[in-house]
Amino acid sequence: MLSDKSRPVIEATLPLVGSRIGSITPNFYARLFAAHPELMDGLFSRSNQRSGNQQQALAGSIAAFATHLVNNPGTMPETVLSRIAHRHASLGITQPQYQVVYEHLFGAIAEDLAEVITPEIAEAWTEVYWLMADALIKLEKGLYAAQANDRMWMPWRVAAKTPAGTGSMTFTLEPADDTPVTPALPGQYVSVKVALPDGLRQVRQYSLSGDAGTSRSFTTKLDDGGEVSPVLHNTVQVGDVVEISNPYGEITLKEGDGPVVLASAGIGCTPTASILRSLAESGSDRQVLVLHAESTLDSWALRSQMTDDVERLDGAELQLWLEKPAAGAKEGFMSLREVDLPADASLYLCGPLPFMKNIRNEAINAGIPATKIHYEVFGPDIWLAS
Ligand SMILES: Cc1cc2nc3c(=O)[nH]c(=O)nc-3n(C[C@H](O)[C@H](O)[C@H](O)COP(=O)(O)OP(=O)(O)OC[C@H]3O[C@@H](n4cnc5c(N)ncnc54)[C@H](O)[C@@H]3O)c2cc1C
Ligand code: HEM
Repeated sequence: MLSDKSRPVIEATLPLVGSRIGSITPNFYARLFAAHPELMDGLFSRSNQRSGNQQQALAGSIAAFATHLVNNPGTMPETVLSRIAHRHASLGITQPQYQVVYEHLFGAIAEDLAEVITPEIAEAWTEVYWLMADALIKLEKGLYAAQANDRMWMPWRVAAKTPAGTGSMTFTLEPADDTPVTPALPGQYVSVKVALPDGLRQVRQYSLSGDAGTSRSFTTKLDDGGEVSPVLHNTVQVGDVVEISNPYGEITLKEGDGPVVLASAGIGCTPTASILRSLAESGSDRQVLVLHAESTLDSWALRSQMTDDVERLDGAELQLWLEKPAAGAKEGFMSLREVDLPADASLYLCGPLPFMKNIRNEAINAGIPATKIHYEVFGPDIWLAS
């Protein structure tokens, strides 16, 4: 809980820090990587640093956290913290690294606000940082402890590499050693680490797209301008070994017997397909509405898996939106206004941010409470910051 001494200081300086955080964070990362260049090898995403997305996510989360502490004394923004902790755990972040980040972040803050900062302001923001860091460290410790092993990276062999739609590829893996495997929940993801042509190692997250449990398969869309997906598509071959993390992610199917709506666009169908697969495998009698939007039928990566699983479930129905007209599909972008949503439904959402914002707004307008809307963002969650 934020101390009575710090609360008014944070309240008074939030607008100032909020307005400067966009220039503080690039300075922070410049300091961090100058002191610890090894953090770019196999931890931070070089592309996110180049595009500035990660800066925005970090800045947004600290500002959101401080705002929450001021407006809701005695509580924590659990959803935000949980998402970050899962992402951190999938990257193997350790407790001592929080001190390193603290030093460089506060070095950048002191420099940027040199003309206005007082010891009182520095102390209050230090308190905010450590409240957030301690909450994350605690969550991350719990996530690590829940794994079937205490390793960060495990070798898995590519057993199959199957084209999935026109631009994607499904990788099916099998363990390449005897490390105990943590059962994954449908909707979770793994981090995948590969070496780039210049030798730098880079990590990206991929949602499990088929069976969960102790199976590991994921489906990646090729991003020609990216670093990792071209290596996966063009370099990694059947028989090769890749390093993957234990499974993480909190957008998983919640227990219950209420209706489930799975809404996805493009490659965002991977976590929803995994949830759908688990419902089909368990012979669920829940009402399941699968809504998917795609540019063309051919580009739908998990088309046969998803249509088969819908067929297997008595209570499932599929509705498809395509940008170009086609038989059996609605034309244009997905809209919930065209859908008869089941009462009391839980909504699982994944796709590009504008798609998710629109569907989430429509769902709320249709009466689905925000607490029953779960979404996965395929990148730093700049939605949190907006
Ligand atoms: C929880 C989670 C689950 C995910 N699940 C999946 C999944 O199931 N399937 C899937 O395909 N993806 C998934 N992703 C996305 C995936 O992790 C990668 O982000 C994606 O594969 C692209 O990675 P990349 O290395 O190929 O591209 P990156 O190297 O990350 O580049 C991404 C984009 O940034 C652009 N870029 C690079 N530098 C700059 C710059 N200076 N300025 C502006 N733009 C720049 C590149 O051109 C490229 O288009 C998931 C992400 C998360 C966080
Ligand atoms: C209180 C301290 C911290 C906060 C508030 C914070 C916040 C965040 C946020 C918001 C994200 C994006 C999560 C998402 O949307 O998926 C993120 C990702 C990440 N964080 Fe942290 N973080 C903190 C500490 C650390 C530490 C100590 C490290 C280790 C050096 C670290 C390394 C990373 C990495 C590598 C990513 C993924 C970024 C990428 O690949 O571009 N973070 N963090």
